[in-house]
Amino acid sequence: MKNVLITGGSGLVGKHLTQILEENKSEVSWIGRPKKERPYHQKYNWNVENGSIDKGWLQCTDTIIHLAGAGVADHNWTDSYKKEIYESRIKSTKLLHDTLANNEHSVKTLVCASAIGIYGNNCVESTDETFPAQTNFLAKVCDDWEKEAYKFELLGIRAVIIRVGIVLAKEGGFVKAVAAPAKWGLGAAFGNGKMMTSWIHINDLCGIFMKAGNDINMKGAFNAVAPNPVSNKAITKAICKALHRPLILPNVPSLMLKLGLGEMASMILANQNISSKKIEKAGFVFRFNQVEEAINDVIK
Ligand SMILES: NC(=O)c1ccc[n+]([C@@H]2O[C@H](COP(=O)([O-])OP(=O)(O)OC[C@H]3O[C@@H](n4cnc5c(N)ncnc54)[C@H](OP(=O)(O)O)[C@@H]3O)[C@@H](O)[C@H]2O)c1
Repeated sequence: MKNVLITGGSGLVGKHLTQILEENKSEVSWIGRPKKERPYHQKYNWNVENGSIDKGWLQCTDTIIHLAGAGVADHNWTDSYKKEIYESRIKSTKLLHDTLANNEHSVKTLVCASAIGIYGNNCVESTDETFPAQTNFLAKVCDDWEKEAYKFELLGIRAVIIRVGIVLAKEGGFVKAVAAPAKWGLGAAFGNGKMMTSWIHINDLCGIFMKAGNDINMKGAFNAVAPNPVSNKAITKAICKALHRPLILPNVPSLMLKLGLGEMASMILANQNISSKKIEKAGFVFRFNQVEEAINDVIK
């Protein structure tokens, strides 16, 4: 990966990945929605809704890392927001595809994010990449997103799909959301607390994106989760412990989550025991295997 174009580069994963790619001597540009103050890396703009896109990257990009999509936990799942979650991923992938199909370009590889949400909300046994896509809302988003990504293969572009688990990072996402109340002694697990959480440290996730870009033997879907998933109670406990705060409150009942969050509660209450075997077999070595070590690293 010499010249990388990242979509959604301004997000949690994109910013971290940009830094790591640059440390490894890649040239990184972002394509994103126009902003009042254009970030340094955002050399190109697009408007996914109306299908307009800058094309300056076409002849100088070897790898696209596609992360863009409206945040699934940023807003209640109203019908219009669900449409945005869906279209921001599917239409953006189509826009990239059609732009490549209709223009001369130098792109060899697409690394496209997806999520372990593709497996649905109840993965009791260790679930691997052969498990079929489910039909609930997030699973459908992921499945259709991946189908669009596979179309790049017909253009002679290697397509790798990274099914991302719950990302543990200092800057935001799951840890920040759980740590905010926990800092005030208000940390609490959800539901019965037994649901499995398949997490990944952001450095390992960026390592997997880099491997996917560089390793020409990687094709198709790979789970990006650490080898040892834990229960929701255990990960909440680990965050409270790292913050030196007790976990004394009772769990937040499932019914309360459902009443407060509606359909989005299904994502929070999902039981996801996901396998990391395939990416390990491909040669990836995790730096963070145990959740306590990962949490202590991001909360320090
Ligand atoms: N973080 C996790 O725990 C996790 C777990 C599973 C899967 N993932 C997936 O991995 C990808 C990266 O995650 P992340 O945590 O870095 O996401 P993020 O922080 O929410 O960033 C996503 C980026 O997508 C772009 N975007 C947002 N809304 C958009 C819209 N309506 N249309 C087009 N672009 C839009 C934005 O970039 P611009 O403003 O620059 O355009 C934003 O910075 C996402 O697709 C996410 O679904 C993340």
